[in-house]
Amino acid sequence: DPRLSPSRGIQPRAQSTTRSRTNSINGRFGADDFNFGDILGEGSYSTVMQATHRVTKQEYAIKVLDKGHLARNNKLQTALIEKNTLVKLGAGHPGIVKLHWTFQDEYSLFFVLDLARNGELQSRISKMGSLSVECSRYYAAQIVDALDYMHSKGVIHRDLKPENLLLDDNFRLKITDFGTGKILDSDVQTAKTFVGTAQYVAPELLENNETSRSSDLWALGCIVYQMIAGRFAFHGLSEYLTWQKVKALDYTCPDGFDEQAKALVQKLLVKSPTERLGAGEQGSSNDMKALKAHPFFKQIDWATLWTALAPTLE
Ligand code: ADE
Repeated sequence: DPRLSPSRGIQPRAQSTTRSRTNSINGRFGADDFNFGDILGEGSYSTVMQATHRVTKQEYAIKVLDKGHLARNNKLQTALIEKNTLVKLGAGHPGIVKLHWTFQDEYSLFFVLDLARNGELQSRISKMGSLSVECSRYYAAQIVDALDYMHSKGVIHRDLKPENLLLDDNFRLKITDFGTGKILDSDVQTAKTFVGTAQYVAPELLENNETSRSSDLWALGCIVYQMIAGRFAFHGLSEYLTWQKVKALDYTCPDGFDEQAKALVQKLLVKSPTERLGAGEQGSSNDMKALKAHPFFKQIDWATLWTALAPTLE
């Protein structure tokens, strides 16, 4: 619908005499263009809600961020990062949640996102204990393919975990939550304050405060392990104890763990970021071809990865 094209804008609505909560600041697009439904997720600074566009009936997930709360906690920057990384990634990949529009009112920032109706991969793993090797392979391949695209655009996610992996209508994966993302202007950057979720954080972040694309590959190793084993690769009774295990590379695959999956995990959970499979020579250049060619992915048809039916979740 051309009326909804963000570049053309839509006609301003008739001026109301009182400024309502939902009037957008630029007056072109606002929360009152949508009917809000269920809460899909809640974070520290945001709530994601199902929403239906009143005119087109198209459904979205709208992330509502509280401006006051963000400002009080010095987190306005993370909202800006999330928007900028999503804009940079555009509609370029089916495995990444698309940002359709943003708007704001006096109190909130609104990000209109693809709706992923089947929720978080985390809740599927929790519900089923673990995933079959076939399912794990499929979702691992979708993560790899989306990372390949994301990294080629110079974006690193830095907090990949099953809570940030959503499933759409067709049970295909969509990566979300780029609030911790980074747009690279050089290959390796030092981040002074950010540390991701303990169970998925790479050792170089703990030891040198360094992140590169390769930190996302470490997280991939943790996720593959978790899907198949049904538990975290690294987990201690506290965040600190988890970090100790990460730094010591202290994990073991349970008996019966698929051999090829184990071989892959062993090539991803490597301390040196430059030596992880997919990291390439400098730990910076994109060498995802080698990762896609790993024997664990032999059964994957990369050409139809986003069009073929997803395997039944089991
Ligand atoms: N929870 C968080 N983001 C979501 C989205 N885009 N779709 C569905 N559920 C979500």
